[in-house]
Amino acid sequence: MRFLAISGSARGVSTNTAMLSAVSAIARPDHEVIVFSRLSELPVFSPDAEKGSLPQPVRILAELIADSSGLIVSSPEYVRSVPGGLKNAIDWLVSREELIGKPIALMHASHRGEDMLAQLRLILSTVSDRFTPEVFLNFNLMKLAPEEISQELMKVPNREKISAFLRTFANHCA
Ligand SMILES: Cc1cc2nc3c(=O)[nH]c(=O)nc-3n(C[C@H](O)[C@H](O)[C@H](O)COP(=O)(O)O)c2cc1C
Repeated sequence: MRFLAISGSARGVSTNTAMLSAVSAIARPDHEVIVFSRLSELPVFSPDAEKGSLPQPVRILAELIADSSGLIVSSPEYVRSVPGGLKNAIDWLVSREELIGKPIALMHASHRGEDMLAQLRLILSTVSDRFTPEVFLNFNLMKLAPEEISQELMKVPNREKISAFLRTFANHCA
């Protein structure tokens, strides 16, 4: 099964992106996890901009979503909310068909961020009728470097948690 893993962070050394990259490595060969960390390339959404042809970065993201069996979203909290780049991407996609029936699960790379998680759960349950809030995996990776995150998640208990998360999500997507 192929999953698209969207990072809500535009940081080069993002803990969320590094966690999703580790998930991608652990998923193989049973599943393919494609990490998308290019939300900063999307222009600011306006309903006017939907009328012509889609901007290329938005079209690429829409196609990646369409080609996936499910989405995994992992995001930092900014000012007790969802970062603008992630919300902007959802605004671009909300009137389109790719998200509506798409299974979506959340991961999280911090021990904080409950306000963002609550808001993101509300948003995702609005845009998809197959958001699965119960399929959730959280690690406390705040302030770790990408290579430290890779080492941490490759430890057997963490690999097992990630494999179980992917198995459960795959069952929901099937
Ligand atoms: C502009 C800004 C605002 C933030 N606001 C919050 C916040 O309201 N609550 C919180 O717990 N962390 C907040 N943080 C911390 C980030 O959520 C946290 O460092 C996160 O793990 C970063 O994820 P990343 O490494 O994937 O970029 C903020 C960070 C930035 C840069």
